[in-house]
Amino acid sequence: MPLLPGQGPHPSGRGGPSSQKLRRLLFGLLGLRRWGPVSRPFLTLAIESSCDDTSVALLEGSRRVRATALASQIALHAPWGGVIPETASREHLRTLIPLLREVLRRGGVANAPRELSLVAVTAGPGLMGSLLVGVMAAKALAQAWELPIVGINHLEGHLFANVVAHDDLVPPFLALIVSGGHTEIVHVRAFGDYRLLGMTRDDAVGEAYDKVAKLLGLPYPGGPAIDDLARKGNPKAFPLPVPMKDSDAVEFSYSGLKTAVLWLLRRFEGAEIPLEDICASFQEAALAALMAKVRLAVARTGVRSVVLSGGVAANSSLRERMAAARQWKSYIPPRDLCTDNAVMIAAAGYNNWKRGVRSDLTLTPDPSWPLASP
Ligand code: KG4
Ligand code: ZN
Repeated sequence: MPLLPGQGPHPSGRGGPSSQKLRRLLFGLLGLRRWGPVSRPFLTLAIESSCDDTSVALLEGSRRVRATALASQIALHAPWGGVIPETASREHLRTLIPLLREVLRRGGVANAPRELSLVAVTAGPGLMGSLLVGVMAAKALAQAWELPIVGINHLEGHLFANVVAHDDLVPPFLALIVSGGHTEIVHVRAFGDYRLLGMTRDDAVGEAYDKVAKLLGLPYPGGPAIDDLARKGNPKAFPLPVPMKDSDAVEFSYSGLKTAVLWLLRRFEGAEIPLEDICASFQEAALAALMAKVRLAVARTGVRSVVLSGGVAANSSLRERMAAARQWKSYIPPRDLCTDNAVMIAAAGYNNWKRGVRSDLTLTPDPSWPLASP
């Protein structure tokens, strides 16, 4: 994964502000390990604010969630049918500090500088204004509390939802990352060693759900609304083209499917729209494409463990299809860990820290930070 400005392996291999290292050394020399920070549980405080959810989490060790809180901006953006970036940043500003307070209180942290071990923050990809709010806040906390900081790739965060959920998950595995901004299959050879097997040529699958929902007059975000309606519809009612069906490459394309739905809708001008059947038919084509490309990626790599991650992983039919797959073992996180949250960022932060990745106060968000390259 490419590094960000202000992020990288620390030259000493340990990192963190020097005063903290000195404090740890003194505690060690004086035999106070039992009471000193060394013997305390490793606590990661994480912030996620890459799009329209503000979330804070406190994680103990690699996967024990002490406390988490989330402020959704859906109601704020819904009237416009999509996220308004400027509004999103202002709302992050308004909600972040109260959420931080709440998580520290519920997590039983009375003395943050002494009890916390690490600050992790999403540094990209995402909306620049939204990312900036989280990164600036994280840097301020790290500086004031003399804590180390690590900038996390949002997509790597999505992968780590599975680490939190499944204690038997170890690389190598494949990851199907499906969200509002991304549709890709990544070969996780080791944590931190990611190879992009293929991605979308145009729209992301979550984006297609949101755009089709808009065409159908359904509320934003469209994924959950289509998921619900599709369950009552007939997926064979309107056969729609399965994107990239005839390509032997691991790649996706969703803009054509959205246009196909637009044409289908024209047939019903002036008549009642069979919403449930259209949702089911759209979903059938959208998910068939995902499953076909996972099958291809498994066959090409010989890797037979696949994790599902990103907001679209909350989709009930995709979860069922993945769970029923025979050619590989599927790892599916609980729904609340699929959509954006800070628990996954904390877990990725802890793992990055253990691998020696460090950021410093020059950390700068990158709205298009790639997780992996081919
Ligand atoms: O990962 P996420 O919360 O934010 C991004 O990083 O983009 O993903 C949000 C996307 C939206 O496009 C939303 O419509 C979609 O995930 N989504 C779903 C479902 N729940 C959320 N798509 C299909 N079915 C769902 N149940
Ligand atoms: Zn996301």
